[in-house]
Amino acid sequence: MHNDISKIVITEEEIRDKIRELGQAITKDYADVARSEGIVLICVLRGAATFMADLGRAIELPLEMDYMAVSSYGNSTQSSGQVRILKDLSSSIQGKHVIIAEDILDSGLTLMRLMEELKCRRPASLEVCTFLRKDRPNQAPINCRYIGFECPNEFIVGYGLDYAERYRNLPYVGVLKPEVYE
Ligand code: IMP
Ligand code: MG
Repeated sequence: MHNDISKIVITEEEIRDKIRELGQAITKDYADVARSEGIVLICVLRGAATFMADLGRAIELPLEMDYMAVSSYGNSTQSSGQVRILKDLSSSIQGKHVIIAEDILDSGLTLMRLMEELKCRRPASLEVCTFLRKDRPNQAPINCRYIGFECPNEFIVGYGLDYAERYRNLPYVGVLKPEVYE
C-alpha cells in the first residue's frame, strides 16, 4: 500500500469483478441496438479515463469511445452553475446510444449540466455509468443506470481519482492520510 494512504476502500480485485459485471450488464442491455444505431462511451476527462478504458474492454459489442473535458463555472454550491466545454467530443452523437462513463458522482451538478448539453444533440438514448457514487446530502437527482460502488462521504483517491493531480495511477481506491493535506 502507498505510504500516503490510510486505508483501502475498494481493492484491485473488487474493481476487476465489478468492471466485468458492469460490462456484462451493458453488453446484455445494448445487444439489440449496437449494430444498428451504435454505442458511444463518453469519458469526462480526466478522472474517468482509467474507468472507461477498463469498462470499454469489458463490453463485448462494437462501440466508439470519445472524450470531453469540462469545467464548472463559479461556486459548486450554486445550483445554477453552468458547464464550460474545454474539449468537445470529436464525433457527432446524434442518433447514437450514449453512455457517459463517470469516475464519481459527488454533488452531481457538473454531470447534470453536461447531460442537458448532450441531450440537445439528440442522441438515441443517454445513460450514465458511474464507477462510484458518494453517499451525501444534496446530490443532484441524476438517474444513473449503472453504478459500480456506493462509497462513504470521504475524500478518496486512486483508480483515476486524484488529489492535486496525484494518485490517479493507484490500482485501488483508498483514503488519503490527513497529513497529506496539511
Ligand atoms: P460533482 O459531482 O459535480 O460534485 O463533481 C464530481 C467530480 O469531483 C468528480 O468527477 C471528481 O473529479 C471530483 N471528486 C469528487 N469527490 C472526489 C473525491 O473524493 N476524490 C477525488 N475527486 C473527487
Ligand atoms: Mg471528474
